[in-house]
Amino acid sequence: MTTIKRKLKIKWKNLLAFLIFIGLLIFGLIELVICIVKVLNPPKVIKEKQVVAKKTNTNKDIKLNKLDNIDKEIDYFNMNYLDRYVAYKEKNSEMPSKQVIKNVNMNLDNDFYTNTLKAKNLNTEKILVNKYYYLDNNYVPDNLESISTRFALSNMKMVNTAKNAFEEMAQEAKKENLSIIAMSTYRSYDYQVNLYNRYVKADGKDAADTYSGRPGHSEHQTGLAVDVYNGKENYTNFEKTKEFIWMNNHAHEFGFILRFPKDKVNETGYTYESWHYRYVGKEIAKYIKEHNISFEEYYATIIKDW
Ligand code: DAL
Ligand code: ZN
Repeated sequence: MTTIKRKLKIKWKNLLAFLIFIGLLIFGLIELVICIVKVLNPPKVIKEKQVVAKKTNTNKDIKLNKLDNIDKEIDYFNMNYLDRYVAYKEKNSEMPSKQVIKNVNMNLDNDFYTNTLKAKNLNTEKILVNKYYYLDNNYVPDNLESISTRFALSNMKMVNTAKNAFEEMAQEAKKENLSIIAMSTYRSYDYQVNLYNRYVKADGKDAADTYSGRPGHSEHQTGLAVDVYNGKENYTNFEKTKEFIWMNNHAHEFGFILRFPKDKVNETGYTYESWHYRYVGKEIAKYIKEHNISFEEYYATIIKDW
């Protein structure tokens, strides 16, 4: 009797183990099938996302290709401007892509005085004010001081760092019997309103725009610009003076650059001004002089304050 009971017990145990085994097997197979289905047939949303990403990437590649993939070669390529670069390149197909990037960074794809922006880096040597960047009508730079009348007409104010550098420069020139005199320096917004309107009245708006900044767009409002003459010749003849030659050789050593050179009219938007200098500090002035670039180019390729 006990033997039969034991045999039955063993049978039940085996049956139970067999059933558990079958259960696990079925469970495993179901999981396997689910996995295979998932891999072969990913959910629609992921699939769509992948397609969009792929399309975007392809679009970007096509655009970069139009620019000769120059993005890898230069560190002033701004991916946010990609569409502007491509549009500008399409309009200027002969222009090398590197120049296209530079020009767009300088905003030259926009007409002067369009899409204007507030000037950045206020109260620093890096401030850029031009036909795209403007100062508010209430902007007055900090630390304005009058230049000594040994080197300036009366009441000629500049930001103190620029003023000190200017006096040092004029002093150095004096040692060679040269006279560098400041005749227009800081100009307030309101002063520029009157000046610009006067020019417009005399010559018309188009002509005035070639030599005078519109109010808010004149660098003179930064307190870092200075117009000079030699005390004898009219300032418009400064180019013909010994003082000009000296400035051409030495201004950068004191942190000044010729702001509107002959060969940069397209970038600056102003005709050549041999008398207008801008204080940018020694380091920037040296770089600009050595590389023969405009301040606009320097801003677009080195400062890159988009
Ligand atoms: N003459 C320069 C361009 C000015 O008005 O700022
Ligand atoms: Zn000037």
